[in-house]
Parts: sequence; C-alpha cells; structure tokens
Amino acid sequence: MFNKMIAATLPYMPKKLVWLFSKRYIAGETIDDAVKASLDLNAKGIKVTVDLLGEFIEDLNQATENKDAYLEIIEAFEKNKIDGNYSVKPTFFGLLIDPEVCYENIRTVVAKAAEYNNFVRIDMEDSPCVDKEIDMFRKLKAEFPQNVGLVVQAYLKRTLDDLTNMMDMQNGVSKLNYRLCKGIYVESEEIAYKKYEEINEHYIKDLEFMLKNGIYPGIATHDKNLIQPSYDLIEKYNVPKDKYEFQMLYGVTPELRQSILDKGHKMRVYVPFGKDWFGYSTRRLKENPKMAMLIIKALFSR
Ligand code: FDA
Repeated sequence: MFNKMIAATLPYMPKKLVWLFSKRYIAGETIDDAVKASLDLNAKGIKVTVDLLGEFIEDLNQATENKDAYLEIIEAFEKNKIDGNYSVKPTFFGLLIDPEVCYENIRTVVAKAAEYNNFVRIDMEDSPCVDKEIDMFRKLKAEFPQNVGLVVQAYLKRTLDDLTNMMDMQNGVSKLNYRLCKGIYVESEEIAYKKYEEINEHYIKDLEFMLKNGIYPGIATHDKNLIQPSYDLIEKYNVPKDKYEFQMLYGVTPELRQSILDKGHKMRVYVPFGKDWFGYSTRRLKENPKMAMLIIKALFSR
C-alpha cells in the first residue's frame, strides 16, 4: 500500500530531486557519457548493451530522429571499440503510430550494426506491443540471422507458448538469442502472473526451456533467489560459458554483479543514457522503495 503511494507520487516530484537519486541508474545525457561509462565497465570485464532513453513517441519525425541518433551511437561505439551491443524500444521508433515505418527504422539500425558484425536487442514493452514486437523480430531475424535478438518477460502467461512457437526460427545457422527478464510494466491478472513466487517459478521454467533447446539466454535479473537456480540449470545442461550470459541494469546491485563475475560468468550491463531519463528513472525508483523513501524524506525535511 505504502509502496503504491510512493509510486504514485514519483512522477510529480521535482525533476532536480529525482535526478539526485536517479543518476546512479543513468550513464549521462550524451553519447560521450555513454561511451565513457561503457569503457569503464569494459575495463572491469563487463560487456554492455546501450540504450538511448525514450519510448512511446507521438510523431514519426521523432522516430526518424531516434533512428539517426542510434546510427550515430553505433558509429561512436564501434569507433571506440566498445565491447557491447545495442538495445532498442520499438515504440521509440514509431511502433504504435505506424508499424511499417517502425520496422524500416529498426531495420536500418540492425543493418548498421550488422556492418560491424554486431547485434541489436529488441526490448519488450507492454502487452499491446508483444505480438507486434515478435512479428518484427521474426522479419528481422529472417534477414539478419546473427544480428538480432528479443526480450521475453517471465510474468506474461503466454511466454512459454511464445518460446515454443518461435522455435521454428532456430536452426544450425541461426541460434535464437533472448534476454529473459521478469517484466516491468503493469499488466492485468488475466494475462500476467502477479505473485513474486509465481513469476520466479516461470522465470526458471522459461530459462530451462532455453537451455534445454540450445537457445542463448541473457539471464537478466538482480534477484539473488534466481541466480542460484540459474547456476543449477547451467550445470544440469552442461552449458559452456560462451552460450549464455547474465545481464543487469546500470547502477543496480553491483555487489551481486561482481559475485557473478568472480565465478567466471559473462556479464552484460544495460547502459541507458539520454536527455529523456525521467520516465526510466521513476520506473527504477518504483522498483526500489527504499530509494524512493529517501526522496520523500528529502522532500519533507528542511
Ligand atoms: P526483483 O524486482 O525481484 O528485484 C530483486 C532485487 O534486486 C530487489 O530485491 C532489489 O534488491 C534489487 N533491485 C531490483 N531493482 C532495483 C533497483 N531499481 N534499484 C536497486 N535495487 C534493485 N523489462 C521489460 O519489461 N522489458 C525489457 O525489455 C527489459 N529489459 C531489461 C534489461 C535488463 C538487462 C534487465 C536487468 C532488466 C530489464 N527489464 C526489462 C526489467 C525487468 O523486467 C525487471 O523489472 C527488473 O529487472 C527487476 O526484476 P529483478 O529480476 O531484478 O527482480
């Protein structure tokens, strides 16, 4: 109840105050900031995936600008020889305005990454986007078999069926590559598991499906209760260290991240940057009520 109240208040808090607590989750506002943060992580043996902040745009001119911005990011990252790839949110490229235009924009970004033998991950957004994002992934995967991956969300009741249905794309040339996360959007009980235990149980089922079927998973979680069962599955299916990776968000649970690295597993950090940091950070703060509490205290003390 109290957490819900905090969550409801966050969007109305002064931006400057939210920034104070958000800056640990954001690499900065410019490409140079993202390059620097990524090089710092690379120096610690951590790979990155970079994300230009923003989503749910309102006109297609913005989509073109966003596509051009990604092309610039790719040039900068490749020039700096960063060990990393790229994450995109389709609504940032116009998915909900014109899916065809969105597809062309993302296709251009994937083609640019492919020129460098690199990879673009399609983030999964809220439920009205899921079918559209799977369709887009299918189309891109047919043209760029090695250069594109998708995110799936363990909280959605449909996910195991989606994974099964997408198996036709897996073959000798083109392995499937998914990021598995719990899912961050508010979804109804009809379509999504709501309880922590249920979500974790399905997370592990989805991961087992991936490992059993030779899919490359990005195990994206900060939940220590999921890390040990993930290790157990990796051992059970005898999966070599180059056939999976762990993933975490920039600034979140660095000690747990280090403990995974210390065991010799691959780790990739999602590096968000850009001027549009407010929506992203308020979502992160909602996940972390302790941090949100600090903001409330700062607001009311003085
Ligand atoms: P859970 O929420 O149970 O958190 C476990 C523990 O982690 C908490 O108890 C706390 O200690 C710590 N923690 C979690 N969040 C924190 C925070 N913000 N600050 C401090 N501590 C925190 N979702 C989606 O719907 N589509 C997507 O494309 C992606 N992409 C994505 C990429 C990557 C690399 C990651 C790691 C996550 C995503 N997500 C996502 C978000 C994901 O769905 C999920 O909401 C968050 O990762 C939180 O879930 P956890 O698995 O960490 O568990």
